[in-house]
Order: sequence, then structure tokens, then C-alpha cells
Amino acid sequence: MVVLKSSWEIAKLEAANQIVAKVLAAVSAQVAPGADTLGLNELAERMCREAGAVPAFLGYRGYPYSLCVSVNQEVVHGFPSRRKLKSGDIVSMDFGALLDGFYGDSAITVPVGQVSDQAELLLDATRLALEQGIAAAVVGNRLSDIGHAVQSVVEQAGFSVVRKFVGHGIGRELHEEPQIPNYGRPGRGIRLLEGMTLAIEPMVNAGGHDVKVLEDGWTAVTTDGSLSAHFEHTIAILESGPKVLSAPGGSV
Ligand code: MF3
Ligand code: CO
Repeated sequence: MVVLKSSWEIAKLEAANQIVAKVLAAVSAQVAPGADTLGLNELAERMCREAGAVPAFLGYRGYPYSLCVSVNQEVVHGFPSRRKLKSGDIVSMDFGALLDGFYGDSAITVPVGQVSDQAELLLDATRLALEQGIAAAVVGNRLSDIGHAVQSVVEQAGFSVVRKFVGHGIGRELHEEPQIPNYGRPGRGIRLLEGMTLAIEPMVNAGGHDVKVLEDGWTAVTTDGSLSAHFEHTIAILESGPKVLSAPGGSV
């Protein structure tokens, strides 16, 4: 069942997501050659708690950290560690917060120092895919219009969309219905309605779409070892259009 939210519930979701946005801005600012990713996790957790929220991923189905950190060929759900970032890496950071009963969820991928042209293009394509996916999240469209928009951008850029993980509804639960694949034919699935709140999260590989999960039970990596990027926003569908609740510097 898809839970529609009223305007006060959307305001609550916005507050949780704005904490997430601030955390992601802060950890991004710390990304540099020589930084270690466990330090980013500690910063994220501290900021979140200082804002009166609870890190949403810590302990979720046993995930052991607050911030998911996925470097280079890692797709999602990577573990922060004492390994140092180096120039040329790309690092995806995914953070969730629970505030007053409502969840925030957002992710970004940032370059470390100087990265390859391919890495730059991958980040640009994934960011644009999220933007276009959000633009398709309007009243009257159907669910698959989102994934279709994402897939079109990604494949035009010569990259591939991860199939194994999907976006999701979000609200009083981190993962609500519907599931939101990042691919598909347009015009399929449920109709999009005012009051739906969705986490749209394209994961894009420079090579093939296939991924596998490592022995740690969490870290998803590209099967072919190619780079992978991930951007995510939580949005609300309003009559006036999609509102990005996790936008940095305030929702739009
Ligand atoms: N954005 C991811 C998701 O929606 C983050 C979940 S990490 C987990 O699934 F640790 F909580 F699983
Ligand atoms: Co998510």
C-alpha cells in the first residue's frame, strides 16, 4: 500500500531530510586525499545526533554504520574504514536520519582530488539522471516514467543502470511502497498522486549493470570492476510539481 502524506507530514519529512542534506554537505566538505572514511561516518553520526535525530541506517537490518561509504567500484552499502581516500577516487555517501517519527534519505557521489574524464562523465550522467527522474515524478504520470527517464539519460551517456537495487517510498518507514526501479518502459505501474513521498536513487555503472555483494554481506560492487556512482533525493509530489525535500540549502 502506498501511503499518501498530508502537508504537515511532508513538513516533518522535510525537516528530517534537511538534517540529511546538512550532514551530506559537511561530509562532502571533508572529502580529500588522505581523509579516511570512518572519520566521515563519525562526523555524520555526531551532526545527526546534535540535530536531535537518530542515524537511520545504524543497525538497520544489522548495517553496522551510520553513513554508507562506497568507493570506486563499490556501488552502495559500503563500510566506512580507516583506508585513506586518494586523488582519482570517487566516493558515494548515503545517509538517513529519523526525526520525530519521519525519515530522511539522500546520497551523493563526489570526486576526490583530480579524477578521470570517465569518472567526471559518470558523476554528471548520474546527477542528471536523478534530476530527470525527479522531473518525471509529476501528478498524472505513471511510476515507470521515473525509471524510464533515469535509464534514458544513463544509456545515452553510454553507462548502465543497476537493476538489483531500487528507489522506494519513504515516510514513517525508511522503505515504503512503491519500489522504484531505475529502468523500464514508460507509462507502466501506478499513477503518481499528490502526497506521495519517494526516495529516487539511480545507481549507475561505467561498465555493465551487474553487481554482486561481498562476503561482508553488505558491500555491493560492480561485477566487472568498473566505477559506480549513486545520487539520491527524497521528494514529495505536489500538485505544483516535485518538491525536493533533501535539497542542499533548503527544499525546492
Ligand atoms: N538509501 C539506501 C536505501 O534506501 C540506504 C540503506 S542503507 C541500510 O536502501 F544500511 F540502511 F540498509
Ligand atoms: Co534510499
